[in-house]
Amino acid sequence: MSELSEWLNNDPAFTARIRSEDKLWLVTGAAGFIGSNIVETLLRLGQRVRALDNFATGYARNLDDLQSTLDAQSWSRFEFIQADIRDAQACRDACRGVSYVLHQAALGSVPRSIDDPLTTNAVNVSGFINMLDAARREGDIRFVYAASSSTYGDEPNLPKIEERIGKPLSPYAATKVFNEIYADIFRRTYGLKAIGLRYFNVFGPRQDPHGAYAAVIPLWVKAMITGSVLQINGDGETSRDFCFVENTVQANIRAALSDDAAWGEVYNVAVGQRTSLNDLHRAIAEALEQEGLTSSSSIFHGPKRAGDIRHSLADVSKAMRLLGYDPTHDLVAGLRTAMPWYINFFRKDAE
Ligand SMILES: NC(=O)c1ccc[n+]([C@@H]2O[C@H](COP(=O)([O-])OP(=O)(O)OC[C@H]3O[C@@H](n4cnc5c(N)ncnc54)[C@H](O)[C@@H]3O)[C@@H](O)[C@H]2O)c1
Repeated sequence: MSELSEWLNNDPAFTARIRSEDKLWLVTGAAGFIGSNIVETLLRLGQRVRALDNFATGYARNLDDLQSTLDAQSWSRFEFIQADIRDAQACRDACRGVSYVLHQAALGSVPRSIDDPLTTNAVNVSGFINMLDAARREGDIRFVYAASSSTYGDEPNLPKIEERIGKPLSPYAATKVFNEIYADIFRRTYGLKAIGLRYFNVFGPRQDPHGAYAAVIPLWVKAMITGSVLQINGDGETSRDFCFVENTVQANIRAALSDDAAWGEVYNVAVGQRTSLNDLHRAIAEALEQEGLTSSSSIFHGPKRAGDIRHSLADVSKAMRLLGYDPTHDLVAGLRTAMPWYINFFRKDAE
């Protein structure tokens, strides 16, 4: 079995506790970026994992990648269901016998939701309720779901604290607000134990660098490795709290195993550091240099993107206090850890 993540090595008591359990986890969106990273860690911890995805934005290659890095015994505890969360019966079948649901399946991207609000709503809201309903019918399930920092909308204050949200600025953000509302309704109506994790700009291995809706870090790393044009939207002083995916995986697993007092809440999941796009560009260039590469891309300043918030910074103290969340990677450490993966991926991609 390959190495465990730093946060697990830092907390042997927690690691031993998970290993001592024999529970079935359902991870939706498992062929996607965050989902596949969660599955990988759970399998490394000796857990049984059922995965669900319809490959809308995820890839079979992410699952192949997992299989190639795990030993046969870990992989034998993995099962995959190809299904759409808009299919309520498929959600019920997937929840059978499960103890923890880590629900990641959704259509991400603000611009995608502006182009096609109906499909984003159908997947992110109707699909989400299908999953909530399947979980509450099954009974004793703990349900952790991917919420989003986009829920803060036009709330201007920094850092963002969970109790203070503004108006959503895009159809995508609206779906994530509805997720939180429905999770709370299911808690009050059916007693479902749910936790929402408001992710802030996650990055790391297996994040899709392709297509019109790619996120900024894989897009820029690709441009800097391949020497293509790198586009900065606006003046580059827009800022984000970039969160390495291992921190996000940690938050999910800690949330699932958290004490009763932690349930029925939402939590920011980030690092608590704000980086402008201009500084991000410099940080990626430095991480590339660490690997002996020099960026050869030229920069183009495009217009500011519709639906985007100007600045984002999380207060992560609630997750630290109630979930025991302890992020191990800031932006620089995350980029350094991820860079060999990016380089390998873009080399293979070019072949
Ligand atoms: N990446 C981020 O920075 C970020 C930030 C905030 C919130 N989130 C949320 O985190 C979750 C995971 O995002 P990601 O970045 O890994 O995206 P991703 O696109 O890589 O993964 C989403 C997965 O869900 C699957 N999916 C989509 N529609 C589906 C459907 N109808 N039925 C079954 N599966 C379906 C996709 O095929 C994909 O594998 C999403 O809920 C997203 O909204 C992500």
